[in-house]
Amino acid sequence: MNSYVKENCRLLSSLELPECDGPKLKAFPDRGSPITWIEPINPRSDQSLSGGQGYVFKVEINSKIYALKVFKFFKPSTYRGSLGPIRGRNVTDRELEFHTDPFYAECRAYAQIKAQREIQGLKRKYIAECYGFLALTKADERVLEEYGVDLWCDFPSNDPYRNRAEGSPVRALVKEYIEEDFDIDEGTLKHMMSGIKWMNRKNILVNDIHPGNFKGPYLLDLGSSWTKPHCLWENMSRRKMRVILQEDIRTFEEMTDDMGLGRRRSPRLPYRRESWAGAEKYH
Ligand SMILES: Nc1ncnc2c1ncn2[C@@H]1O[C@H](COP(=O)(O)OP(=O)(O)OP(=O)(O)O)[C@@H](O)[C@H]1O
Ligand SMILES: [Mg+2]
Repeated sequence: MNSYVKENCRLLSSLELPECDGPKLKAFPDRGSPITWIEPINPRSDQSLSGGQGYVFKVEINSKIYALKVFKFFKPSTYRGSLGPIRGRNVTDRELEFHTDPFYAECRAYAQIKAQREIQGLKRKYIAECYGFLALTKADERVLEEYGVDLWCDFPSNDPYRNRAEGSPVRALVKEYIEEDFDIDEGTLKHMMSGIKWMNRKNILVNDIHPGNFKGPYLLDLGSSWTKPHCLWENMSRRKMRVILQEDIRTFEEMTDDMGLGRRRSPRLPYRRESWAGAEKYH
């Protein structure tokens, strides 16, 4: 086992993550308990498993049902190009990874939401709860293989990062399992919109608003989010940042319009984000 893989093992066995400034998510309290894999939640119509940033399964741990999101591996330097050559020098690959790897991005956003809810004594819920992170056992990794899941599928087998990092622990987040899709009415839309505004006020940009990331009123996916302090947030030009700060609301309005439910208020801007709020991937 090389030192990079060893370091990843150490990180995943720690009590909270990530090891950088800002919010930290706690490990799932029952992370030593066996996982019963029930079924994949997001199979495509052709029955293959769709993998965006990860794969989501319905599981049982200690007699409780959860949604377990298992994350693909991600190259830490993916967004280095967005930092620029001068500012980028002060940001290590680890810091960039902690801010942009979807697993760590979700850890930071969920931790921030939890902390802010506690400070405010907020009872309203805008997201599916997250109960913590865990690393899969080798036996669980074999179960995933049987399901046909390849967490390295975004990398060719001779990729230098893959060669260095392969063997690192498989990361997962334990989330509240949301059973049904609810009918979306005006009240639900208002609730969803106020959730997004609340997160934006609490220094979280979701950066990936689309119908597949909600179940009923609850946002499920924070894998593309930015939570302050965030190296890309800090290094974006003011002009770009002005656009990015409006993106969640704008894409939400666009989404509800496309669903035939919305009343557009913000004008469509010429600048359209794919994801990651305008950050260019570095190849
Ligand atoms: N907590 C949950 N409860 C129930 N279903 C969930 C939950 N989280 C995710 N899902 C289901 O899994 C799908 C994928 O989840 P998520 O968006 O977090 O993963 P992803 O890797 O970003 O996948 P995609 O690229 O398809 O969006 C969701 O569209 C939803 O149907
Ligand atoms: Mg998603």
